[in-house]
Amino acid sequence: MNDTSPAAALAPLLTPQGWDLLGSLPPYDESQALSLSESLRAAGHDPALVAAALTQQRLRSRAAAKFGDFAQQMLFTPDGLEQATRLAVSAHHAARYAAAGVHRVADLGCGIGGDALALAGLGLDVLAVERDEPTAALATVNLMPFEDARVLCADALSVDLEAEGVDAVFADPARRAGGRRLTDPEQWSPRLSEVLALLGRVDAVGVKVAPGIDHALLPSDAHVQWVSVDGEVVEAGIWCGPLAPEGPGRSALVLSTGADGEPRARRLTDPACTDPSAAPEQLEPVSSTAQIGELLLEPDGAAIRAGLVAELARRTASRPVGTRIAYLTGDTLPEASLAPFLRCWRVREVLPLNLKALRARVRERGIGRLEIHKRGLPVSPDALRASLRLKGDGAETWVATRVGVRDEHDRGAVLVVEPVPAER
Ligand SMILES: C[S@@+](CC[C@H](N)C(=O)[O-])C[C@H]1O[C@@H](n2cnc3c(N)ncnc32)[C@H](O)[C@@H]1O
Repeated sequence: MNDTSPAAALAPLLTPQGWDLLGSLPPYDESQALSLSESLRAAGHDPALVAAALTQQRLRSRAAAKFGDFAQQMLFTPDGLEQATRLAVSAHHAARYAAAGVHRVADLGCGIGGDALALAGLGLDVLAVERDEPTAALATVNLMPFEDARVLCADALSVDLEAEGVDAVFADPARRAGGRRLTDPEQWSPRLSEVLALLGRVDAVGVKVAPGIDHALLPSDAHVQWVSVDGEVVEAGIWCGPLAPEGPGRSALVLSTGADGEPRARRLTDPACTDPSAAPEQLEPVSSTAQIGELLLEPDGAAIRAGLVAELARRTASRPVGTRIAYLTGDTLPEASLAPFLRCWRVREVLPLNLKALRARVRERGIGRLEIHKRGLPVSPDALRASLRLKGDGAETWVATRVGVRDEHDRGAVLVVEPVPAER
């Protein structure tokens, strides 16, 4: 039977002919892939090699979103790419190790080497450990430019850190099995508790974890930072010992691309929180729709996950619109330094969430385009949009949400809003 695994598909590339062919290919272009494949086979190349090389070029073109120009020199499997930390984020991980003054970092479960690359790129000595043999082979290729990086195909927890001269550990445990996401950190590989237990052997331990991790499972003496990239929450990092110069607590790191095309990084910390495992503070919401202010503020997902909504409310003189709802309302635009953490809307009207009345509005105003956001209500924006019979040239943005203190009879409200430009 043919072996169709990603590892078998890569094997032809890890030969001198395979490597030469891969190096000779142009950047991947879907519209040219078929004719390129035919011409390579007509030129006498083995069909399995041609298929492997074109698959690799396709993965490299996808990988450019995470690794930029480096992707063209790297090798990937679909899973390895999917799980790899993008360079914009791994650079921040690596900067913590460099600033802590550590020398040799063990990356325990290095995958195709996304994080190991960033660590090595900052001049750190890296021992990248991966138990899956084909993945370790790819990490070896990907780390080839770095003299001080070595890949070891082994179980992460079997490594003798002391004998290897390791003084810092990074781990990004595998959080999937059988195509399923595992939410329990004790089902990850390696387990979160096993990685954190290494703190007895090295002072500097950092772990990338799922952003939805329950705060109660976090070590109370670590600094935990949630990261978003262009509005998408991508991870939380648990930073221990010298990797946490900010001290125990929680923060959000918001990464984006500025209008000038340059990367931007903004941090927000909750000064009142010195124990990341503590439950986030909940503020009293407005009591009714009458108290909705001129503005609706939507915190970035990293700030929400980091439990910073109350901190943002304090700093913007605003209040949550409902119990445990991460929308804030007030009358003052946030100061410029908070802009990366808050999307701002001007509230034009507040309507009851009543389908008949909303349909009448759509008809009367000739609304053909409707953007719907929602929080805290069992409403599907797509289903709501479909049931409204949109028709006309008008356009509106609605935010469907629960308002006030939670109450079982609460049916929610629709806030008709307009965006306030981010660059003010
Ligand atoms: C989420 S991926 C790491 C991705 C990596 N940080 C990157 O940026 O490319 C986790 C990796 O850990 C490996 N792994 C899981 N358990 C392991 C163990 N006990 N020892 C070594 N590697 C392990 C998996 O094979 C997988 O490649």
